[in-house]
Amino acid sequence: MNRLPKHIAIIMDGNGRWANLQGKSRVKGHQQGAQKVRDVVEEATRQGIEYLTLYAFSSDNWSRPKDEVNILMKLLVTSLKKEFNRLINNNIRLQSIGDMSGLPTPVKQELKYVIKKTKNNTGMVLTLALNYGAKEELTQAIKAIAFKVKNSIISPEKVDQSTIIEHLYSQNLPAVDLLIRTSGEERISNFLLWHIAYAELYFTDTLWPDFNKEDLQKAIVDYAKRERRFGKTSQQLTN
Ligand code: IPE
Ligand code: IPE
Ligand code: MG
Repeated sequence: MNRLPKHIAIIMDGNGRWANLQGKSRVKGHQQGAQKVRDVVEEATRQGIEYLTLYAFSSDNWSRPKDEVNILMKLLVTSLKKEFNRLINNNIRLQSIGDMSGLPTPVKQELKYVIKKTKNNTGMVLTLALNYGAKEELTQAIKAIAFKVKNSIISPEKVDQSTIIEHLYSQNLPAVDLLIRTSGEERISNFLLWHIAYAELYFTDTLWPDFNKEDLQKAIVDYAKRERRFGKTSQQLTN
């Protein structure tokens, strides 16, 4: 039996389809989805999860209609403001991964503010993936390493996995143990490629705006039943 996953990552998907089913605009789906984040964060904290990473906006989501993008950005700012006290009270440290420079100024400002104010918190690390793409993350890491090699800061022979990790946005994130995707889609959509190398994948048909504490508990229970072999044989693990 596995212990509790140390790091849970969630692809929060299905806001649009949820709204569609209710005959509402996609905006309503995103609003309802944003509210669900609170419950899930609270439950993860209660369960003693050390790292929770949420995919909130991908680098490919800029291709959506402009109005939807604007609403998502506004929702981010209001959610950060609204949840601030709760993060403080729950001793949660907020951080973000992704290309922050590409975010609108109000989002950047609010994000920086909350990150700064929660940086000494010692509880769960909550990471928001914003303007995040794993291929972009790996590309910028390789570019940075190439420059260091060129300038003789690193010798090529010394480049190993830790060198790569040090150049990722998510350098302080441990490997993902459990990756959850809601809404019935079974794909990664350019999320955390490096960190999910050995993640246990959990897909549920539940749409993100319907995902609740019990759903998170279910995923954690399912994870506990899995045997993580990391290349070894089952027998080696039980010996
Ligand atoms: C996830 O829900 C939220 C974001 C990607 C920002 P979607 O908006 O992708 O919902 P569907 O997939 O259209 O149902
Ligand atoms: C992935 O969902 C991104 C987020 C949940 C933020 P998408 O809905 O954008 O992914 P695809 O396009 O269906 O793969
Ligand atoms: Mg989607």
